Order: sequence, then structure tokens, then C-alpha cells
Amino acid sequence: MQIVICKDVAEVAKTAASMVAKLVRAKPNCVLGFATGSTPVETYKRLVGMHKEEGLSFAKVCSFNLDEYYPIEPNHEQSYRYFMNRYLFDHIDIEEDCTNVPNGRKQRDLEAIKRICVDYEYRIEKLGGIDLQILGIGSTGHIAFNELGSSFASRTRLVVLTERTIMDNSRFFDRMEDVPKYAISMGIGTILETRHAILLATGRYKAEAIARAIEGPITSSCPASALQLHKRATFIVDEAAAGALERKKYYQHTQKLLRDLEQGGKGAS
Ligand code: F6R
Repeated sequence: MQIVICKDVAEVAKTAASMVAKLVRAKPNCVLGFATGSTPVETYKRLVGMHKEEGLSFAKVCSFNLDEYYPIEPNHEQSYRYFMNRYLFDHIDIEEDCTNVPNGRKQRDLEAIKRICVDYEYRIEKLGGIDLQILGIGSTGHIAFNELGSSFASRTRLVVLTERTIMDNSRFFDRMEDVPKYAISMGIGTILETRHAILLATGRYKAEAIARAIEGPITSSCPASALQLHKRATFIVDEAAAGALERKKYYQHTQKLLRDLEQGGKGAS
């Protein structure tokens, strides 16, 4: 696990975007995993900037989003499909057919929803798995829409959202009753299979969840703590979100020494 503490939101976005760009340049047909929510917006803006100004091309990239509300139409302004088009897909050269967001359209019954979920997993597998997955974290410690108590073996499925998540998300909807009560979400098991997971967090409101995810026990009461089991997880947080970390000084020291090593500097001796 790597912990990168940045001075502010802008530096978090810059660090995350350069990791994505580095992979896209090295492996143009890579499979990226995207998250929605307010946290990755700045990172997406940077990627759009890199596409426009530096010619970073996503023409061969495929993507999978973590989750989608259920039920919701893809053209609904609060759907995650709409969000991705608005902040990223509409501004880069990714092929629309290669962008996958779980289908949140109302289905006839639970069986039909299950088929959507199985198919999502199948499509990820068919493309060889996700190379780099961007994640956010909820104030409760959830990742994607894996609520507290989600199994670490869970796969893409329908989840029932908690009151707290509904409250957190209500700021994006006109009325409380408009906030969907379900979502289709990649499972923790699905996320643990990604080759590299990058979790972004900014602001004081995320400090407690970050401390529990990184330094707390591995428990389904904090789904993000499952990342302690990930073969390659990177937490990119700003000073405020790092505020409750007990070993903050050590992470900063590690960060500095690794940077020195990369640059062949004095830390290498
Ligand atoms: C969304 C997602 C969620 C968010 C989390 C944090 O795709 O996976 O887990 O990452 O709710 O949301 P923000 O960034 O709005 O605080």
C-alpha cells in the first residue's frame, strides 16, 4: 500500500491524472476504471486538459465505471452515465462503445437485474481485467456503493443504499424523495482484482474514513479497509483528509525517500 499525501486538492488531481496518463501512454489499449462523485472531477478536468493540450489519446482505451443508481435513465442529469459524459467522455477521444457504466434502466424483475450484473463482470473479464481503477471513499468508508457489511468476495450486484448514503447524495437532487434507493455496484471482490487501485480523498470530512481504511482493522464495517489486501493500492489524499492518520509522518518520510530514490538523490545512499 502506498500513501501519497498532497498539499491540496489540485495536487491530488495532478498526481492521479499523471498516473492515468503514464499508463495510457505505456499501454494505449489499457482498461481504466472510473468513479463518479465530486472527488475525481478535478482529475478528469486534468485528463481533458492533457488530451487537448498534449494529445493524450484515449482512442484505444476501454473503461468501466464502478456503479450506477437504480433505477435511473442514462440521460437523467444525476445518472452516473450522464456525469461521465459531462466531465470526461464528451471531451476526450474515447469510443462511446468502449465506455461501460452499469445499466441502471428500470428492469422487469430482479432476475433481469442479475443478468445485467453478471454481464458486467463478464465484459470486464473478456477485456482482460481492469488495469487501473480510480476510487473515491464515502464518509462511512464505503467504496463504490459497497455499503458497510459488504462481503469482500462480493461481485457486481444490486445494492440497497443506506440512509446515510442517501443523505450524502441528496445534495445532488432537487428533492429527498428523488434520490434512488438502490444502485448497481461493482463488488469489493471485483475491485480487489484490479491491477492497480487508486483511492482519492480530499477534505476534513474524509479524514476519519481514511484513517480507518489505512490504519484500522480490515473489516466489512469499513469497506475501504479491504484495500489493505489489494496487491497494489495507492491512496492519494490531501493534508485535510490525512488529518487523522497516526502514522502520517512515516508516510511523508517514505514518500520523500522514494522520490529521492527515483531521482537518484541522497535518499538512495
Ligand atoms: C461513486 C462512488 C462512491 C464515491 C463516494 C465519495 O462512483 O464510487 O463510492 O466515490 O461516495 O463521493 P464524493 O467523491 O462525492 O465524496
